[in-house]
Amino acid sequence: GERVTIPVLQRWKDEGRRIAMTTAYDAVSARIADPIVDILLVGNSVGNVCLGFDNTLPVSVAMMNHHLDAVARTRSRALLVADMPFLSFHLSPEETIRNAGGFLQRGADAIKLEGGAKRAAMVRALVDCEIPVMGHLGLTPQSVNVMGGFKVQGRTANDALRLLDDAYCLQEAGCFALVLEGVPAELAARATEYLTIPTIGIGAGPDCSGQVLVFHDVLGLIEGHRPKFVRSYADGFKVLQEALSRWVGDVREEAFPASNESYRLPEGLRDAIAS
Ligand code: KIV
Repeated sequence: GERVTIPVLQRWKDEGRRIAMTTAYDAVSARIADPIVDILLVGNSVGNVCLGFDNTLPVSVAMMNHHLDAVARTRSRALLVADMPFLSFHLSPEETIRNAGGFLQRGADAIKLEGGAKRAAMVRALVDCEIPVMGHLGLTPQSVNVMGGFKVQGRTANDALRLLDDAYCLQEAGCFALVLEGVPAELAARATEYLTIPTIGIGAGPDCSGQVLVFHDVLGLIEGHRPKFVRSYADGFKVLQEALSRWVGDVREEAFPASNESYRLPEGLRDAIAS
């Protein structure tokens, strides 16, 4: 299909065609998702989903590079967005541009960063260097300590109005799209109608320009509690565990490997190793 670019996403928003984004952290997930979704995100969620951290704060630029490289080598069609980790875009415009520009040099098409008006200057500095920026507002996982947990945001009049203001600031600073995470559906709908750039929702109701879910959540690969906004389209954890356990059973019962799954010596050599 058509290679997804930033102007294509804007056209889709203008036409009312919904945008689908998921995460990819390695070559396997990238190969599965690239032909199907519009945007692949190498998300900081790699920290919780793949690396066993409780939140995204320990994720470093080096970790992101490792996962971005694997995805960049494999994708061919979807727009590739790399997520800026905690402290990689806070210290100075120089450091921010070097980190973000490094992601582009490794094959990302754009970067994503969390935060509103207080990040607008950084967004402008990146856009001035031809680095496309996706914003991220609402339940921003890097703010977990400030929020006191992963909680829905924008539920008071003040917070809701601040979110709309932040969204407008990011658009004016040059963001090409905006993730809205963990906010009431009405607020996300209002932001989507008010902005010209596309909004991509996660736990933000049905009226955004698109939706994002973590790959492992869509496929049911994560055991245990599923947040309300996750819909799993496969029971991946169970399906994979059942397949693995059939293989282990075959190994224990000496039913694996079969003769057609084994290599053979040439006819004349069989005797040579017998004595
Ligand atoms: O880290 C991530 O995967 C994200 C998306 C869920 C938006 O930021």
